[in-house]
This record gives sequence, structure tokens and C-alpha cells, in this order.
Amino acid sequence: MRILITAGPTREMIDPVRFLSNRSSGKMGYALARVAARRGHVVTLISGPVALRPPPKVSLVAVMTADEMLSAVKRYLSRCDALIMAAAVADWRPRRVRAQKIKKTTGPKVLRLEPTADILKTLRTKKGRRVFIGFAAETERMLVRARRKLAEKGLDLIVANDVSRPDAGFEVDTNQVTLMEASGGVRVLPLMTKMKVAARILDWLEASERR
Ligand code: PMT
Repeated sequence: MRILITAGPTREMIDPVRFLSNRSSGKMGYALARVAARRGHVVTLISGPVALRPPPKVSLVAVMTADEMLSAVKRYLSRCDALIMAAAVADWRPRRVRAQKIKKTTGPKVLRLEPTADILKTLRTKKGRRVFIGFAAETERMLVRARRKLAEKGLDLIVANDVSRPDAGFEVDTNQVTLMEASGGVRVLPLMTKMKVAARILDWLEASERR
């Protein structure tokens, strides 16, 4: 299969030296790319700024902001059979990006924000027969919120991720997720390495192609 994977955070600039972002290290998305390429899939990895080396045999597209990630996903989507959005895309960005470094003494006390585009929602109408897999990073009411995102974003599968656990979610090498299918199926996976979580997601994707 030709698989498009997103990973890492996005950065939304405030001024030339400061930005809004999140704790994503890229480990989950890079694990997906590594396992997919090892299995012989053709992998394009769209990545926000992370400190990881791209896995062998993976085409890397480096982006910074949510807007750049949206443009890159748009550009590569038509050449892909599946999209896996593991990236932690910033939901908000400063309304105004200052051209010069804001001075501590004269800078604003309030930062005005505006929402970024929701990549999955924007591309919903372009899905066609492609398989769309999203993640849901939640700290409370995980299953209810993940099920809602699955429907709102028109996904085939959502990987619900309890990011309040110290051994799961952001930055660590392990994860504990629940796979929730559009058809209603729910599979709670035990705590395992992100490489093993990636393998289980790809097992699901490969099986979905045969259905
Ligand atoms: O990178 P790591 O340190 O390994 O951490 C892994 C992870 C916690 C980042 C990963 O497992 C994860 O949960 N990724 C999704 C994080 C996220 O943004 O979740 P969300 O619930 O806010 O978004 C739901 C889905 O919509 C996600 O697939 C997201 O990529 C997508 N999205 C979000 C915002 C936006 N503007 N556009 C989107 O398409």
C-alpha cells in the first residue's frame, strides 16, 4: 500500500523567537512509518519538528506549522491508499505573528488566538476509497470523545490514547491505546512499545484492505 503518515507537533510562531506547540516527540508516528516501510509499504512521512532520524526507505516531508502540514497532506493524498494522522497538530495559532521579537517590557499581556484548519475535517470530502486513521489524545472521558472525533472527522479507525498516563502518549517509548472502528468494533490493547502499537494498527489497516 502507499501510506501517508503524519507525526510530531506543529509550531505556531508568535514572533521570530517564540512559538506555541505541544509535547509530541514524533515517536508514535515514526514507529508507524518504520514498521510500515519494513513491511514493504511505500511510506511518505510528513513530520513536524522532532529530534528523530527518518526511518530507512521512508520519504520525509518536513513541515513546521499546521497550515504547512495541511498543504503537504493535500499534495500527497492523491498518491496514497491510506492516511494515518498521528501528528499532534496545534489547534490554535496567534492571530498575528510579530515581525520583530516582542520586548518583555512593552509586549502584550494577552495573546489573541485563532483556530488552525482541522486537517482531517478539511480533507474528508477527498477521502474516496482511501482508509483514514486518526488518533484521539484525551485526558478524560476518552472513549466518548474519541467516538465523537471518529464520526466528526469521517474516519475508518480512531486510536484512542489516554495521554494522562505517565507510561503512555507523549514522549515515552510505550503506549496504551484503544482501537475504535467506524463499524462499532472496540479493541483495548495492553501497554506495549510504540513499535508494537504501530504493528497492531498496521495489522488492522492491512486486514481492512482485504475486507
Ligand atoms: O509524538 P509522541 O510523543 O510519540 O506522542 C504520540 C501522540 C500522543 C502525539 C499520538 O499518539 C497522538 O495521540 N496523536 C494525536 C494527537 C492529537 O492531536 O489528537 P487530537 O485528539 O487533538 O486530534 C484528533 C485527530 O485529528 C488526530 O488524528 C490529529 O492528527 C487530527 N487533527 C488535529 C488537529 C487539527 N487541526 N487537524 C487534525 O487533523
